[in-house]
Amino acid sequence: MNDFEPKIVCFLCKWCTYAGADLAGTSRMKYPPNGVVIKTLCSSRVDPQYILLAFKKGADGVFIGGCHPGDCHYQTGNYKTQRRVILLKKYLDQMGINPNRLRLEWISASEGRKFANTMKEFVEQIKSLGAIPKMNFTENTSTAESQRTQRK
Ligand code: FES
Repeated sequence: MNDFEPKIVCFLCKWCTYAGADLAGTSRMKYPPNGVVIKTLCSSRVDPQYILLAFKKGADGVFIGGCHPGDCHYQTGNYKTQRRVILLKKYLDQMGINPNRLRLEWISASEGRKFANTMKEFVEQIKSLGAIPKMNFTENTSTAESQRTQRK
């Protein structure tokens, strides 16, 4: 039996997903307790360096929760987040980190159920990927594998 419990760093926008997580908690919805929550003023405040640092420090997954498109308190912050995450996933792949370890979702303050379900899904997904390799940032992804083959 696999008893691996992933460590997940969750950056949650205070205006939406953080409140959604709070609603899930106060409504006693059950979801895995694997996430460590960091409250941000907007999803766009999550500098890509913080995400890379989380992986470097041993996070098995990173979750970013932001306001739905059109609902960002700072108008276009979440659009910037979306563009950054798309680019960062490509970068992670090149570094040998499976891009599925990074997830971005739009979850509003009234979507406690969506938050709970998303966390359940994400934890299961990370469990299937296994623990992130320490320090060297490499794991068996297609890109990492092809880079190794090219070097030989
Ligand atoms: S204020 Fe929530 S994503 Fe910008």
